[in-house]
Amino acid sequence: MPDTFVADNKCVTVEIDADQIAWITLNRPEKRNAISPSLSNDMQQALDRVEHDEAVKVVVLTGAGDAYSAGMDLREFFRASDNLTPEKRAAFGRSSSWQWRRLRYFLKPTICMVNGWCFGAGFNSMIACDLAVAADEAQFGLSEINWGMIPAGNVLKNVCSVMNQRDAMYYTITAETFDGKKAAQMGVVNESVPRAKLKDRVREIAKVLADKNVNTMRACKFAVKRVPEMSWDDADD
Ligand code: COA
Repeated sequence: MPDTFVADNKCVTVEIDADQIAWITLNRPEKRNAISPSLSNDMQQALDRVEHDEAVKVVVLTGAGDAYSAGMDLREFFRASDNLTPEKRAAFGRSSSWQWRRLRYFLKPTICMVNGWCFGAGFNSMIACDLAVAADEAQFGLSEINWGMIPAGNVLKNVCSVMNQRDAMYYTITAETFDGKKAAQMGVVNESVPRAKLKDRVREIAKVLADKNVNTMRACKFAVKRVPEMSWDDADD
């Protein structure tokens, strides 16, 4: 029987299966899994729940319904009030924390399973995961320019870390969408497969990761993330 967990606000669910894979699902399908303050609080709870649980070897992030995530909740983060109140500032901080820092330095291997729409801040958690596999049918977009914003909060830093300069510029200033196959071709995700095969393919990869020594896995994934920012001498040390 899988072990299941629903976070306080029901915006995130977790299922830990017999293969020791924790499937974390962003669960606001009616809002295309837009990232609200409640979802961010739930995600922190979910990540806490799985990070130190020895029954969990690999974590998969995905979205309920047709979307991975439509990005930041435009109403709750940007439209509810023009003022950056202390509460709002704190909510931004919690939101940024799980999407980037927390996932980037997560102790267990992470895979983003991009099942559908992935917009704006959706890129953050997708790129912060160690691996990403998309449905061919998934649609990606950096639509911020259409909303009078730049892809902020480290979205561009993430995007520029996986796309070349020309592609990053093109998709940022045109807001044109691209599908899973194109995302794989540009290196935004590791691969894309037809949506019907997505979960099986992700499970296959997760089982390979689950078989590795946990300490060596952690050392390898942190090294891959940090080495590009080091000098040759530092990396050699
Ligand atoms: N923030 C808040 N609500 C959002 C949202 C977001 N980023 N994205 C979608 N929603 C809400 C819609 O307002 C709508 O709510 P309602 O039913 O209460 O009116 C609901 O989710 C469904 O959206 P809809 O546009 O009807 O779904 P769709 O399947 O036709 O299209 C998207 C899906 C993702 C293409 C479309 O919702 C979209 O373009 N969203 C904005 C994405 C974006 O620009 N993100 C960057 C944010 S900086």
